[in-house]
Amino acid sequence: MRGSVEEDEFRRLWDELIPIGRAESGGYERYSWTGAELACREWFREQADRRGLKVTEDGNGNLAAWWAAPQAVDHVLTGSHFDSVPGGGAFDGPLGIASAFLAVDLLRRDGYEPRNRSIGIAAFVEEEGARFGVPCLGTRLATGALDPDAARALTDRDGTTLAAAMTEAGADPAALGPDRTLQDLACFVELHIEQGRALDDQDAPVGVATGIWPHGRWRMRFSGAGDHAGTTLLADRRDPMLTFAFAVLAARKEARLAGAHATVGRVEVHPGATNAVPDSVDAWLDVRAADEATVNLVLEGVESKVRERAGRDGTGFEIAVESFSGAVEFDPDLRERLRDVLGGVPAIPTAAGHDAGIINGHARHGTAMLFVRNPTGVSHAPREHASDADCVAGVTALAAVLKELTS
Ligand code: GLV
Ligand code: MN
Ligand code: MN
Repeated sequence: MRGSVEEDEFRRLWDELIPIGRAESGGYERYSWTGAELACREWFREQADRRGLKVTEDGNGNLAAWWAAPQAVDHVLTGSHFDSVPGGGAFDGPLGIASAFLAVDLLRRDGYEPRNRSIGIAAFVEEEGARFGVPCLGTRLATGALDPDAARALTDRDGTTLAAAMTEAGADPAALGPDRTLQDLACFVELHIEQGRALDDQDAPVGVATGIWPHGRWRMRFSGAGDHAGTTLLADRRDPMLTFAFAVLAARKEARLAGAHATVGRVEVHPGATNAVPDSVDAWLDVRAADEATVNLVLEGVESKVRERAGRDGTGFEIAVESFSGAVEFDPDLRERLRDVLGGVPAIPTAAGHDAGIINGHARHGTAMLFVRNPTGVSHAPREHASDADCVAGVTALAAVLKELTS
């Protein structure tokens, strides 16, 4: 690349986007089909307009802004997502979209034009699964991995269905389902902030991904008997909170023993009175490991130990999968080709989920990810960070990759 992107160009664009959906805590509340995400989508359309890129929207709400090649036979897609986890960081998702617009600017400044392959910048819906529980909802639907009827019936924390949320936002839930943009593409490359410290440890601003750990989410329900906090004898209680507390510690222990990761990050206590034994507790378990056998081992361990404990507590215990994402290995040939283009940058695995993992296997010539250094190593929290200089390095790398894949 002969031209360059200046840090203040990145900053100007980034400053337009980052106030949207930022809470007072500094964390983000950008959920699919809500005001903040809709405002991001508006920003996306404006950016596309400024650059003369035509925007398409599939039936799932996934957006794409197109730099059409004159003799396009297929397309290369890049991009990421706007939605956040509750209290999430600024970069997880939006960095991939903002960087893609700047990469197009850089390629144009360089006098480059794609010939046979168009370049699409995508903004996928509900990657985090923070509102409707299923991560990568938009790409699962578009690739045919999720049944549209099942998706329409998903509910958020207030009981609003995805169908109702889409209708309220002016979209048509009847249109959910597979789409050619993701089923018939040459390559997908997602740029993302790194969600660990591997690049910082290797003193590299940019890296490529080798693969994604298998991971899943399970809903646990602990049921007991609601009763008075003062008058109920301890021996008479059937307290689901005890079984829940045991389950959190059991998950941690099973994960430690297996070399896996297990997290309980969300819990709902019913009815939620300070002075009452709860009648039930719902909690969500996230388990990840280097291979599926280890994920299953952790789950089996948690399940059998919690059942045994529930027997002692006189409580009920149910566990059901809400989503599962198998192990992903990104195309090694594509990865090595991109590493060559980028001068031998580090190749690192990730334990975080991404739309690229869902799209992997659909792109005829492979899927890849670029990571941008995050010196804090923190993600899904406000301390997630990348410097402007590293973000510019990410844009430059993405531009080089898009050129390589579309020349
Ligand atoms: C999404 O970022 C996930 O890893 O759950
Ligand atoms: Mn995330
Ligand atoms: Mn993400």
